[in-house]
Amino acid sequence: MKFFAAALSLAAVLVPQVAAHYRWTSLIVNGTTTTAYQYVKPYTNINSPVTDVSSTGFTCNIGASSAPGIAWAKAGSVIGFASDIPISHPGVINVYMAKVPSGQTAASFTGTGNVWFKVSQLSAVTNGGTSITFPADSITSYTFTIPSKLAPGDYLVRIEHIALHGASTFGGAQFYIHVFGTGTSNPTSLVNIPGVYTGNEPGILINIYWPIPPTYTQPGPAVWA
Ligand SMILES: *[C@@H]1O[C@H](CO)[C@@H](O)[C@H](O)[C@H]1NC(C)=O
Repeated sequence: MKFFAAALSLAAVLVPQVAAHYRWTSLIVNGTTTTAYQYVKPYTNINSPVTDVSSTGFTCNIGASSAPGIAWAKAGSVIGFASDIPISHPGVINVYMAKVPSGQTAASFTGTGNVWFKVSQLSAVTNGGTSITFPADSITSYTFTIPSKLAPGDYLVRIEHIALHGASTFGGAQFYIHVFGTGTSNPTSLVNIPGVYTGNEPGILINIYWPIPPTYTQPGPAVWA
């Protein structure tokens, strides 16, 4: 595993990494971790983070193709992603969902356009400058609750872990679900991916080592509640 010197991170922008990396490979639904890439879109970029936040590969990783299946998940239930190996870099997690436009299916939709809303995040913990910790360190799964008021339909779900040890590197994955339930709400504050980040956000272009940041600003929009 290669780490960058702390002093570099403030000036470095989107430093590519050469190292073995964790991947989000499986959907967790109904308390079960499903087979790798059963509901997660496979991609050709096996071992590298996506570092260009403006690239089409930032939507759902580079070389993404259709997943074999669409999982049914009830609004208000817990779903999540499992990774192949533990998260090995300090960083934060965002989870976005996108409703599949009419005329398309979760299998055909690539996630382009102003369609994404944030459903969950796992940020850094700061305390005014004496320490910064990352609750996502070493985890092998991340779960969250699908908002119970969310209207039924086909959705894409996208998870990213933003690694902050070298200023910024990214690993993304996406899966397909079909949400069912009695909700009627559709989020209105939507973002494009790519487009949601410039890479210059205070929570992305950050030196997490010295001086210790007194606060941390999670990148992206607020969680839709
Ligand atoms: C999850 O459980 C629901 C019943 O609440 C079922 O309809 C659905 O098919 C299950 N999803 C998967 C992927 O097993």
